[in-house]
Amino acid sequence: MAIRKVGVVGCGLMGGGIAQTCAQAGYETVVREVNQQLLDKGLARIHDAWKIMVSKGKLTQGQADETLARLHGTLDIADFADCDLVIEAVIENMEEKLRLFPALDKTLKPHALILSNTSSLNITQMGAVTKRPDKVCGLHFFNPAPVMKLVEVVKTISTSEETVETVKQFAISLGKTPVLAKDTAGFIVNFLLIPYLLAAIRMLENGMASRDDIDTAMKLGCGYPMGPFTLLDYVGLDTTLWAAEAIYDEYKDPLYAPPPLLRRMVLSGMYGKKSGKGFYDYQ
Ligand code: 3HC
Repeated sequence: MAIRKVGVVGCGLMGGGIAQTCAQAGYETVVREVNQQLLDKGLARIHDAWKIMVSKGKLTQGQADETLARLHGTLDIADFADCDLVIEAVIENMEEKLRLFPALDKTLKPHALILSNTSSLNITQMGAVTKRPDKVCGLHFFNPAPVMKLVEVVKTISTSEETVETVKQFAISLGKTPVLAKDTAGFIVNFLLIPYLLAAIRMLENGMASRDDIDTAMKLGCGYPMGPFTLLDYVGLDTTLWAAEAIYDEYKDPLYAPPPLLRRMVLSGMYGKKSGKGFYDYQ
């Protein structure tokens, strides 16, 4: 199936990065937000990224202008009507997704695919509220989406082989390397990454080492690009909490139980880099 036009629901950190990636790869791209303020903020972030790429010589001004012309912001889901594929990257809240999927199902043409960028919620359940569960699967990007090379293609028990193959080829066309995962909470990466991040928080809670020493240890001792606290702030503490809760909910494995400090930081609005405060300050 040929993909010509892509829709992205949500222009936050992940949705914006995904829309940027799709437009850069040559796709006509529509990105939708719930209000003008959020849309303007998300589009401004993408435009800034393109300015930096031009200043670094990674894009010519002409290429940046063409890419910009391929990206359209909207507040109206009806503007997805002629998309061949829509990727949802809205808040990690199942009720929200269960409202969105039937609306997309009604709006899109019968051939169109509906993909979720969820990091750990049940995609089978999202497909089940549509009349096209065979055309629903996960396409999970990593932050920053335009830079990170991996995507997880997540197959539910209802996703057809044809959908999986189309989505894999689409991922490759974006310059990504797809890996295939079953629809189980956390897929591959978060199933492994979340316990590591939560363990770092527990070490801090227990006074085993300082924030800076834990970050330095994992950067220099394991060659990770960021220590766990820098990465937690970068990914978002709210996102990490939602992912941990979703995986804990599925397996009831204490490895995934959110540490009290994480929950309290999120309750206090300390979401990490995006809110200006997390384990580090970004004011
Ligand atoms: N658009 C285009 N390019 C971008 C960009 C964007 N939005 N953001 C960064 N870049 C580019 C930079 O311009 C730079 O390009 P250059 O090498 O040509 O100069 C390159 O990416 C690297 O960026 P920086 O120089 O600013 O910084 P670093 O070299 O320190 O790399 C990093 C930054 C790529 C974020 C690196 O630190 C890293 O890989 N960190 C780990 C990130 C990670 O683990 N992400 C996955 C998190 S898990 C997740 O997302 C799943 C979720 O479900 C929880």
